[in-house]
Amino acid sequence: MSLDVRAEFPQFTRQLRGRRLVYLDSAATTLKPRPVIEAVMRHMATETANVHRGAHQLSDEATEKFENVRERVRRFIGGVSTNEIIFTRGTTDGLNLLAQTLGRSILHMGDEIFLSQMEHHSNIVPWQMIAAEKRAVVRFIPVLDDGSLDFVAFKKMLSPRCKILSLVHLSNALGTLNPVRDFFKAARAHGVQCVLDAAQSVSVLPLDVAELGCDFLVFSGHKLFAPTGVGVLWGREDHLNLLPPYQGGGSMIAEVSEERSEYLKAPHRFEAGTPPIMEIMGLGAALDFVGHLGFDPIQAHERAIMEYAETELVKIPDLRRFGNSPQHRHIFSFLLGGSHPSDVGAILDEQGIAVRSGHHCCQPLMKRFAIPGTVRASFSIYTNEADIADLVVGIKKAKEMLT
Ligand code: ALA
Repeated sequence: MSLDVRAEFPQFTRQLRGRRLVYLDSAATTLKPRPVIEAVMRHMATETANVHRGAHQLSDEATEKFENVRERVRRFIGGVSTNEIIFTRGTTDGLNLLAQTLGRSILHMGDEIFLSQMEHHSNIVPWQMIAAEKRAVVRFIPVLDDGSLDFVAFKKMLSPRCKILSLVHLSNALGTLNPVRDFFKAARAHGVQCVLDAAQSVSVLPLDVAELGCDFLVFSGHKLFAPTGVGVLWGREDHLNLLPPYQGGGSMIAEVSEERSEYLKAPHRFEAGTPPIMEIMGLGAALDFVGHLGFDPIQAHERAIMEYAETELVKIPDLRRFGNSPQHRHIFSFLLGGSHPSDVGAILDEQGIAVRSGHHCCQPLMKRFAIPGTVRASFSIYTNEADIADLVVGIKKAKEMLT
């Protein structure tokens, strides 16, 4: 990438266990670039004020900046109106919101919610909770051996009982990029409401809600170089206004009396209380940062790093990769011989290499492959070939120690 991207991430100035930091856990959270840190600090240092409570100039300024981020999010995902953009605490919060509003509104006894075997727990548990309440059924689209979704099985599962399909765009555990458009097209022909979990795809692919063909989309800021504690839910405006509020409180009401309350329309209907203002300022800076880099160079870099990693890692004897479908991105998941993934992760950590090991909050997927978990190296715009080379050395060391 032309800009020296690494220099924009101050975390690389620190060492880990006396060695250069090798950060290969961007699927868990991305590092934060300087402009994001500065935007957060600016808000805290000199621009602190609450929003939508326009009593004074500071509050007006904060509100304007805050709403401007909403507009930038709209542009970022190809939305039609800022009223479609709801700020949440993150992907998990967005999915809980949908389960408790969409699920509560449309599910009846015997209805079906379709998920896949590769969903993260955040796209399973909220649906199980509302299914238990509504006596609906959660069904799982199978994952094939190469880590892709079984479209044929999905088509056979579809029936008028299916009311909601909630799918991950890019698997956090395997790196598989799912052809969600095809799934949504088939589901929508049956009147199914389609939800897209874009938590992992948001930083590596340009997203366009119209092209994706979903009814709702969720993502987290912290996997897109923004702070934790902020995320986005997108839905069509008319659709959102049919849903009941999720949480009650200030800012989401038109009027409150002792007897009853009237709610505002979307997006405010779903944003009770003081929002994560500082984090949203950081999200705005993150969108600018990504916009400045551009998705073409981001994708070219990601492809080059992934290609290099694949070439080098598959040379290691006894390394078994999970997620071999041709459609995968920025995540390399593996096991080393018969070693437990936590042991491999711990040995890498001793060498200053940060990876995630375990079930990656995808226990049904691990059960599908009959494994306790994997070691996962995940890459981002700041990952370089030296990181991959260190990972290869680290894995070889782990292999020596564990076999
Ligand atoms: N969902 C995040 C991960 O995959 C936390 O690590």
